[in-house]
Amino acid sequence: MPAPAFPVRRVLLAGTGAIGVSMLPAWVFWVRHHLHLEARVALTCHAEALVSPKALAALSGHRVWCESGDVEPEIAHMEAVGWAEAILVVPATANVIGKLANGIADDLVTTIVAASRCPVVLVPSLTPAMQSKPATQRNLRQLAEDGYGLVPTMTGVQVSDSTLSEGAAADPATALAYLKRFLQEHSAGGGDNGGGDSGTGARSG
Ligand SMILES: Cc1cc2nc3c(=O)[nH]c(=O)nc-3n(C[C@H](O)[C@H](O)[C@H](O)COP(=O)(O)O)c2cc1C
Repeated sequence: MPAPAFPVRRVLLAGTGAIGVSMLPAWVFWVRHHLHLEARVALTCHAEALVSPKALAALSGHRVWCESGDVEPEIAHMEAVGWAEAILVVPATANVIGKLANGIADDLVTTIVAASRCPVVLVPSLTPAMQSKPATQRNLRQLAEDGYGLVPTMTGVQVSDSTLSEGAAADPATALAYLKRFLQEHSAGGGDNGGGDSGTGARSG
């Protein structure tokens, strides 16, 4: 029997400032050419310093929504909210995890998430110290309680000292399989599956 189709067609990859964001071009490629979905990208300022928006634009076939882009952030967030049927925050820094857990929307990525109604899944990337902090644990629990999907971290190489440790962002196959399951469960529960409050949004489901 063929595997059930991916529940949405348009996935927004929202990159934040962990080193794993330098791999985001490979995630875009995976979403488009393995899953045959549309992918677009939004970046925080810190992510922009670690990955090339030009490469992401070339691979996604669309301009990237970022603070330094041609489009004003106020317009960019409405475009992104209207376009996305699911948002994958990858990688998700401790900073963005903390902001989203507390309803803070002070940059493009957190504003997109705050204004969206579609399912949002985070792929945390945390150093062992960050992961062990009570505040981080509290924020992750809050996000789970608020209905966000959280892809478990994996063992990976610490960039600072080349040791293996917990807290690395999951790989694309694992994270996108998680996203698919999360969306299936979400739509089975009758959740709203797209668009936001911008009034520009296409809705599905
Ligand atoms: C090379 C590099 C790697 C980083 N890796 C991480 C990381 O894995 N997790 C994390 O929470 N912060 C990491 N940071 C720190 C974040 O960039 C910093 O907290 C920043 O304020 C996050 O901004 P953003 O969440 O708006 O993207 C890293 C910074 C640099 C320069």
